[in-house]
Amino acid sequence: MSDNQPRLAAEALAADPRVMQAKQLLLDAVKTHQNTLTGIRPANPDLRLNYEQLLNDFGERRGSKLWFPFMGSGIGNGPLVELLDGSVKYDFISGIGAHYLGHSHPAFIASSIDAAISDTIMQGNLQQNGDSATLLQLLTQAAKMDHGFLSSSGAMANENALKIAFQKRFPAHRILAFEHCFAGRSLALSQITDKPSFREGLPAVVAVDYLPFFDASRPEESTQHAVATLKKYLERHPKEYALMLFEMVQGESGFYPGSKEFFTELMIILKNNHISILADEVQTFGRTSALFAFQHFELQQYVDLATIGKLSQTCATLFNKDHRPRPGLLSQTFTSSSSAIRASIVMLHELLNNDYFGINGKNACIFERFSKKLDELSKKHPKLIQGPYGIGSMIAFTPFDGETQRVTRFVHALFDAGVMSFIAGSNPTRARFLVPAGAVTPNDIDAVVKIIEKVLCL
Ligand SMILES: Cc1ncc(COP(=O)(O)O)c(C=O)c1O
Repeated sequence: MSDNQPRLAAEALAADPRVMQAKQLLLDAVKTHQNTLTGIRPANPDLRLNYEQLLNDFGERRGSKLWFPFMGSGIGNGPLVELLDGSVKYDFISGIGAHYLGHSHPAFIASSIDAAISDTIMQGNLQQNGDSATLLQLLTQAAKMDHGFLSSSGAMANENALKIAFQKRFPAHRILAFEHCFAGRSLALSQITDKPSFREGLPAVVAVDYLPFFDASRPEESTQHAVATLKKYLERHPKEYALMLFEMVQGESGFYPGSKEFFTELMIILKNNHISILADEVQTFGRTSALFAFQHFELQQYVDLATIGKLSQTCATLFNKDHRPRPGLLSQTFTSSSSAIRASIVMLHELLNNDYFGINGKNACIFERFSKKLDELSKKHPKLIQGPYGIGSMIAFTPFDGETQRVTRFVHALFDAGVMSFIAGSNPTRARFLVPAGAVTPNDIDAVVKIIEKVLCL
């Protein structure tokens, strides 16, 4: 037998010319049809009635109306996405951060085809394929952390991190987090997420205390205030804190980045008090000047655990060896789907090899272009827009006075005009964008800003 004879049926299948041909045919077909989506367009009046019915039925069945009348048709072209009403929109919120390479990306289609013929729909306990090992190796190497555990949602990744930290720090049982943070929607995470309406009626399953976040307009004062608050809690509840959760760029509250000095001061105190440090990177992963925001803020030496999600497709909890949990603590029937795991591998190769990071990386260039254009708008219409704010591909501004209802109406009007964004925070409420960095061109950004101006001036 020659050396290049496949040893596995799976290798033979992957190399089968029929598979390669079928894959190419599918990719070509998608390309032909996605190329018809060349810009935004309004809904097709013939589809409107059915579409409205579909949205109403879906909302009824879910038990809550959709926030946007969005239902995808299943095809897009980079930053453009087609909806089932026939409209095409700029997707500048990308599924609240999931579609970093835009829509119908050929590399994801190819990896999904490979996944579709790889037997296992979902991977997990007693059903891992080799892809799970490849992904975990890539993630732990990139994070420079010893271990990792895959999961299918950011919330589950955070839950696993909480369990690891609580087990390590037993009997400590309290958590520290920042005011206005968002951590997910499980029972425990709804307690950490600093929004009362998100935990209305839920039992308090963990004790959480909050520190004020960094204020860029008063860097030293806000740092000292947070340090003083931390010290006060440590005196009030000695040895009771297991971990502190850091959302280093506050996402759901409106894109507020902290600073290296701010985080470092707090983290030194936490280390001295044997409190684990969790970087919740579910929203920041891949979007700053480095793969992880803790690398962007140069905090590697302090971070014990990090969680990722959204654009990574598969979510994960990464942790160092001194936090390795005892057997039995972590296990899941489903860690993620085979297509998501393959997509994560594609995503990591893309991010690590195609100039997203550093001061001249794609993320920084997107921020520069988008924020420059928004800045011009705010100078031209100072009563209509304040900002911009954010970092990398996380960009926000405050329309008008930031009053929630008015901003919500603006974001819906922007949707009707062909641009998808989302609201964030309260007092003020901002309009925010999670830009699909791997798909946008400077012309797309300019086109979106023109639409924003038109809608602001309505
Ligand atoms: C910072 C942060 N943590 C956790 C989560 C929860 O992730 P998921 O919605 O995948 O459960 C989110 C989601 O928005 C997030 O932004």
